[in-house]
Amino acid sequence: MNTPDRKTAHDILKQASEMNPGNWIGHSQNTADAAEKIARHIKGLDREKAYTAGLLHDIGRREGVRNLHHIICGYEYMMSLGYDGTAKISMTHSFALKNLNTYLGEYDCTDAELNFIRTYIANIQYDDYDLLIQLCDCLALSDGLCIIEQRLVDVAMRYGFNELTIPKWKKIFEIKTYFEKIIGKSIYDVLEIMPVRVK
Ligand SMILES: [Fe+2]
Repeated sequence: MNTPDRKTAHDILKQASEMNPGNWIGHSQNTADAAEKIARHIKGLDREKAYTAGLLHDIGRREGVRNLHHIICGYEYMMSLGYDGTAKISMTHSFALKNLNTYLGEYDCTDAELNFIRTYIANIQYDDYDLLIQLCDCLALSDGLCIIEQRLVDVAMRYGFNELTIPKWKKIFEIKTYFEKIIGKSIYDVLEIMPVRVK
């Protein structure tokens, strides 16, 4: 699958930040930094690919304030540039659970677009890059990295929650454990995040 190099990815995000500036730019940079740091510890994962996947996972937001529609916008834009690998990340990053209804926020899509997302998610096989960005998306605020719980609550405070929210949260923690087993230590140690440890 095709992905841009680091410089090209930065050029794409810079142009996007001029089109639609906002907190999502810092969040994207922090997602990229976390993905690269984790990928560095995992044999078989390409640091550059992890970094650019993190940097561009929300690229659909370049077109303006979007909710669910940013996923489609990102997919179509990346496909138009020939980056099918990054397009895939645009689609998969919000769906740790393969269920469209886990998305919190406005479903600002046509019926055809909703069907496209639903079918795509159901049929695509997630690889470690998809899982890595699903995880790092839940570690990255706009101004730095945080523990997963902080980010999940941050999203729930802004968009609410539904009956699939807890199963989705559990899936995120499963992904965290999956990578920690490969790495052999906590991702919080890898990322130098200091969670409060309860005895
Ligand atoms: Fe994100």
